[in-house]
Amino acid sequence: MCRTTAIVVAALSLLLLPAVSPALYAADAHTAEPDKTPDCVYVGTPYDVIDKMLDVADIKQDNVVYDLGCGDGRIIVAAAKRFGCHGVGYDIDPQRIRESLENVRKERVEKLVEIKQEDIFTVDLSRANVLMLYLLPEMNARLIPQFKQLKPGSQIVTHNYTIEGIAYEKSFSVKSLEDGDKHTLFLYVAPLKTEEEK
Ligand SMILES: C[S@@+](CC[C@H](N)C(=O)[O-])C[C@H]1O[C@@H](n2cnc3c(N)ncnc32)[C@H](O)[C@@H]1O
Repeated sequence: MCRTTAIVVAALSLLLLPAVSPALYAADAHTAEPDKTPDCVYVGTPYDVIDKMLDVADIKQDNVVYDLGCGDGRIIVAAAKRFGCHGVGYDIDPQRIRESLENVRKERVEKLVEIKQEDIFTVDLSRANVLMLYLLPEMNARLIPQFKQLKPGSQIVTHNYTIEGIAYEKSFSVKSLEDGDKHTLFLYVAPLKTEEEK
């Protein structure tokens, strides 16, 4: 094949590829840089606060724990190590996904923990028994329609920010030795009630 013909054939193959190989494109999309920038910056929850978040949620070994906006995966990894439960961490930032996967590998919880690069506002929550959230208040509020997918009795633990308009069951104050700050945790139980309904 002469050089010009080879170039034309290569160009045509590239044009045809999306039509003949959609699966390849879907797989690539999973690890691709996101179209959407994160809705908040990354700040990791201190480990001593994570311990308290795990105490607050009554986690059982057969539970599925989600962290929406999982950062480096530290909460999900800690839950899996402590309770042997299944965990799924979602983040939109590829750097955080890489850190999470590294953390999962380092702590040897590959059999229990999944890490997914997804926009949290599109995640189906019906499989989760426990949600861990360290997000901005407006992000918590935007998730309210998705919280309706949770099974009755499912728990949500939020770090520092409430879910606006929704009544929490209990709040807890934790002084972290790691960052010297006071942190507040809020426990919610599904089905969620508004402050007026409580
Ligand atoms: C404050 S950090 C909390 C990290 C972790 N949950 C923790 O407590 O250690 C919030 C995380 O949410 C992620 N994030 C922001 N917007 C997002 C979105 N729309 N979908 C998925 N992740 C998002 C950010 O990339 C960041 O890692």
